[in-house]
Amino acid sequence: MDMSSLRGKTALVTGAASGIGLETALAFARRGADLVICDLDETRLGAAGERIEGLGRSVLARRVDVSSADEMRAFAAEVHQGIDAVDILMNNAGVAIGGPFLSTSLEDWNWILGINTLGVVHGCHFFIPNMVRRAQGGHVINVSSAAGYSASSMLPAYNATKFSVLGLSEALWEELRPHAIGVTAVCPGLIDTPITRNARLVGEMDKPEMREDMVRGYQRRGYTPDRVARNILKAVEKNRLVAPISPEAWALYYVKRFAPWLLRRIGLLLAKRAQG
Ligand SMILES: NC(=O)c1ccc[n+]([C@@H]2O[C@H](COP(=O)([O-])OP(=O)(O)OC[C@H]3O[C@@H](n4cnc5c(N)ncnc54)[C@H](O)[C@@H]3O)[C@@H](O)[C@H]2O)c1
Repeated sequence: MDMSSLRGKTALVTGAASGIGLETALAFARRGADLVICDLDETRLGAAGERIEGLGRSVLARRVDVSSADEMRAFAAEVHQGIDAVDILMNNAGVAIGGPFLSTSLEDWNWILGINTLGVVHGCHFFIPNMVRRAQGGHVINVSSAAGYSASSMLPAYNATKFSVLGLSEALWEELRPHAIGVTAVCPGLIDTPITRNARLVGEMDKPEMREDMVRGYQRRGYTPDRVARNILKAVEKNRLVAPISPEAWALYYVKRFAPWLLRRIGLLLAKRAQG
């Protein structure tokens, strides 16, 4: 998709009140797109809407839980009253769980699968059919992660959701190609956003010092969500199917492809270090 000007186009971003979603919504608005945004956090969503309007673009902002099929159906119905279809659909809303499988409860699984996996399915289910029917192309951006192709014993639930988003995106890429709808699975590495404060930590990771270590580690790494947004725009422009973002995400991508055994060694070392 030509991203040089998005004037006259509508971009939808889920989880747009914070982090990568917020910065990408602002980047779309700066290129001239009108925005449809949703999030669970109404206060921050309102602030995001004001920033988009401040850039001279129109915005429809709604509190929507992406894990709820009913809420997503109602949201899509409202959006499609105003336009035939969105031009860019960005399924970004996501949460994280850190800690081993043996400490992850079924409630944890339902929570993360509901948001990270079904949230993306709901976005695709309720918005892509209109894009196809309108027959003017478009682009679907699904936010996976470097954890969507490299697994770790510290992230089993998160890995399962992000691998599923990457798999769905690869399948969709093929199905939507005849409709001139591109698909990009965005796979960032360690990005300094509030996700580190909001992640659920379980088992041996459920310690305040572990969280502080993680927050500080991501801050020191210093890769900001506005850089991710810039790279997402480039990946869509190039119609890239899988878009690792940040040097560590690229490194893991190549190690996984060419030396998967090395990835297992690194994983074992990191897990040992995390256990102290
Ligand atoms: N930060 C990272 O290091 C990193 C790395 C790779 C991938 N990601 C992915 O990027 C995406 C954005 O994460 P972020 O780092 O910007 O985190 P963030 O916490 O800053 O933003 C996530 C947003 O999603 C919203 N949200 C959560 N549950 C929701 C729900 N049920 N319905 C609607 N909105 C909901 C939150 O309120 C929040 O505003 C996520 O999918 C995450 O997994 C993040």
